[in-house]
Amino acid sequence: MEVIRSTKALKQKVAEAKANNKTVGLVPTMGALHQGHISLVERARKENDVVVVSVFVNPTQFNNPEDLKTYPRTEDADCVLLEKAGVDYAFIPSVEEVYPEPDTRQFNLGAVAEVMEGAMRPGHFNGVAQIVSKLFEMVNPDRAYFGEKDFQQIAVIRKMVELCGFNINIIDCPIKREDDGLAMSSRNVRLTPHQRSVAPAIHKTLKESVSMKDNQTVGEVKKFVIDAINAVDEMEVEYYEIVDPLTMQPIENWSDSVNGNPVGCVTVYCGNVRLIDNIKYQNNDNRSA
Ligand code: PAF
Repeated sequence: MEVIRSTKALKQKVAEAKANNKTVGLVPTMGALHQGHISLVERARKENDVVVVSVFVNPTQFNNPEDLKTYPRTEDADCVLLEKAGVDYAFIPSVEEVYPEPDTRQFNLGAVAEVMEGAMRPGHFNGVAQIVSKLFEMVNPDRAYFGEKDFQQIAVIRKMVELCGFNINIIDCPIKREDDGLAMSSRNVRLTPHQRSVAPAIHKTLKESVSMKDNQTVGEVKKFVIDAINAVDEMEVEYYEIVDPLTMQPIENWSDSVNGNPVGCVTVYCGNVRLIDNIKYQNNDNRSA
């Protein structure tokens, strides 16, 4: 594996690969890698000749300076994992390399970016669109891989791809969980032992709520999830929405999810660590509430 820090060198390597008719897969990350990331890398490894992983804590997507400051940075350990996973190029640039000038682009991401994370973290998705579009311009991969834990982010990235006209296949990959059900996240390392012991309640509650769908309304299921998680020590739900899987718009009736199974998306503060997770509700009945 080669570690690349300059955009110019990265473009050169990708150009060489493409000149040899090789397919290129990109896995964008912010480092502090765990098995969730590695599952994306493994999929990229299977489906492409050349795999590029970017490791870059993108300042423009943090609306909270404290979160940016405390975001875990573990470059050496990340490189060990990436090397083991068979990555060809780890792109690890500085902030100055990626943003020699401030990025002032405003993406018209529309309704998918206005709810949930978009409402709670103003500017966050615009920052994601800025960095991912820059990476796409640099690498122009055939495929790019994203984890479904950030379910809304994938919808936003698809919208950005449409706006920018990129011809890149966006591949969404399932959430990886710890044995006790907690969704893998770089932020999990910031949980205290007690917070870590209670955090699996998020997935457990979401799973329980799926079986309620057949005889409870959307409103009742939402209330169950919020109340059950809030009842756990140190946990506070920021939002819980059940949304259409394409438009990301919250539904009021199960049958409002016209593009497939509704998805429940939750954000929970566990102490001061912000965790997100989601679950699919099988849409096998069309009753209106
Ligand atoms: O999901 C992430 O880790 C980040 O939002 C991404 C896609 C790497 C952009 O910085």
